[in-house]
Amino acid sequence: MTATAPTTTPAHPGFSTVQTPLATRHLTRVHDLAQHEVQGLLALASRIKRDPSAWSTAFQGMALALAFEKPSLRTRASFEVGFQLMGGSVVFMDQRDSPIGQRESLNDWARSMERWFDALVVRTMSHTTVQALTACSSIPVVNALSDLHHPCQAMADLLTLAERFGSPATPHVAWVGDGNNVCHSLMEGIASVGGRLTVITPAGFAPSAEIVRAVQARCMRTGASIRLTHDLDAAKGVNAIYTDTWISMGETDAEPKRAALRPYQVNAELMAKAAPGAAFMHCLPAHRGEEVTNDVIDAPTSIVFDQAENRMHVQCALLLALLRPDLVELPTTFVASDFTS
Ligand code: CP
Ligand code: NVA
Repeated sequence: MTATAPTTTPAHPGFSTVQTPLATRHLTRVHDLAQHEVQGLLALASRIKRDPSAWSTAFQGMALALAFEKPSLRTRASFEVGFQLMGGSVVFMDQRDSPIGQRESLNDWARSMERWFDALVVRTMSHTTVQALTACSSIPVVNALSDLHHPCQAMADLLTLAERFGSPATPHVAWVGDGNNVCHSLMEGIASVGGRLTVITPAGFAPSAEIVRAVQARCMRTGASIRLTHDLDAAKGVNAIYTDTWISMGETDAEPKRAALRPYQVNAELMAKAAPGAAFMHCLPAHRGEEVTNDVIDAPTSIVFDQAENRMHVQCALLLALLRPDLVELPTTFVASDFTS
């Protein structure tokens, strides 16, 4: 998590926020978390999933703001339901009335928001907006998707892999399609847990070279393997195939991109290259008939709705670590039985 100077002013008068380094940190991308923090949050998320009632008052007296410049189903619902189930209040900021840094400077927007809220969850057109917010906000800023990263999605994906395979590091995963924000965060997540990922994209749609360099540096430390290719045969024998929309929110000039990605559709023929019983993954929303066919996404091996559910559990774990470090100590180790009940 990106660190800012600690604040001594509680968000709510009378509520004493415990000021530790975690309480003043942000999540802009998976790599803001140390490797052991990624693992610890997954184990905590699994504990929350098994016994949510144990945390039902954790956010009592706290307020969370959601400010989204792009549409959302899963992200909005999972943050709202999760925070409320743990006793907190949530306000979804209408972007017509209160756009981030448009009626006033970004700094004035953030400095006002921190007087009412304990954390900001933002979905932005540009990743630079998330970064700018972290520079002026004294409360945690959580990236709920930008053009470059979708860290909460990747954390949910790792938890889903752990549940399915015993550990997020066990399966060989293939990303097939556009080297986009979800792909970047998945690379950072799998690099953090020491897993194995093959990224298969058409030429011209590979992930950002800068992010790949950061990921390779983390792989050196964790023993993870991330390989990039344009060759669909690289999906041979993988344990899971993950895809996403060909055209992300905010992108224009869609037709040439669609044409380049068409051969990379995840269909029965591609799934047949994978190991028998390989899982199918998608962050959703899916564009059926484009990046994935109905038979694949509706197959019993599809774990797309587990991924969607797990958004809530990992986000609650993250917010607990950020806002209630007095309540949780992140587990530093985990075993397969943490994820299988
Ligand atoms: N996966 C995901 O972020 O979904 P939404 O766009 O519906 O929030
Ligand atoms: N890559 C997609 C993910 C949606 C959850 C987008 O940014 O639109």
